[in-house]
Amino acid sequence: MSGLPPGGPPGTGGPNPALRVDLLSIFPEVLEAYSSTSVLGRAQRAGVLQLRFHDLRTGALDARRTVDDAPYGGGAGMVLGPEPVFRAVEQIDPPRPLYLLSPAGRRFDQHVALELARPGTAFSLLCGRYEGVDQRVADHLVDGELSIGDFVLAGGELAALVVLEAVARLVPGVLGNEASPEEESFADGLLEQPHYTRPADFRGHQVPEVLLSGDHGRISRWRRAESLRRTIERRPDLIAARGGLSSNEVQLLLEHGYPLEAASADGPAVSAETTGNDFPEERDLP
Ligand SMILES: C[S@@+](CC[C@H](N)C(=O)[O-])C[C@H]1O[C@@H](n2cnc3c(N)ncnc32)[C@H](O)[C@@H]1O
Repeated sequence: MSGLPPGGPPGTGGPNPALRVDLLSIFPEVLEAYSSTSVLGRAQRAGVLQLRFHDLRTGALDARRTVDDAPYGGGAGMVLGPEPVFRAVEQIDPPRPLYLLSPAGRRFDQHVALELARPGTAFSLLCGRYEGVDQRVADHLVDGELSIGDFVLAGGELAALVVLEAVARLVPGVLGNEASPEEESFADGLLEQPHYTRPADFRGHQVPEVLLSGDHGRISRWRRAESLRRTIERRPDLIAARGGLSSNEVQLLLEHGYPLEAASADGPAVSAETTGNDFPEERDLP
């Protein structure tokens, strides 16, 4: 499972992949199974993406391949020990930077994904387990820590797959002919517009008329307006982070019937420069 020669066997990425990621876990088979399907599987078979899966237990010192131990100071649960993890990393020598998945890490988002998705790049992901990982791993072995959100998973595997998939699909060639990541949510600090497919009338629910019009200019303006509207309604923090709305965007929203005046009582839409309003507090999702 680990230690494949550069280039790997057929189906594990070509000799010059656009992205190489090594994943270290006590459950490498879980990571490998997911990564062999869909976008990640196709990208590996096309040689664009090279993934290597390593078992942290190769660093264990005993015949039972133990990697955890009781916490100093007492308390519930076990801790992934420093010795097996350091030994595994030293044997594997995975590409750096090496990131530990951790709820205490830097929040992973689309900006971090873009940073990691530079073509020709390589990095590695180390999955924690148990109550956590001995602090010396974070302090003296890895190059950084990544969190996928303010919640606690049982292990780093799902978090690593989240990071891997979000990064990989930004690398040119990974998505093939599928939609361009530049047009997706967060690409320009906004949520994406809604999508529709056939039938135009589903149980009385109609597709917006503009999408059936064949007028590409109108469709493009509608999509932009919907993207702005959704972001204002659902994630006003994103609007604030990009400095509010430009006057063209305000105009576009007004043209599409968005009630900016009504909304501005809550202050969601228009930047302080444009209207003098403050931005709203982030609202809870329904
Ligand atoms: C049960 S968690 C440990 C949580 C730890 N006791 C705490 O309260 O921060 C076990 C492992 O899951 C992974 N993990 C859990 N939640 C995560 C998150 N939100 N982001 C990234 N990794 C996470 C980490 O690798 C962590 O070492």
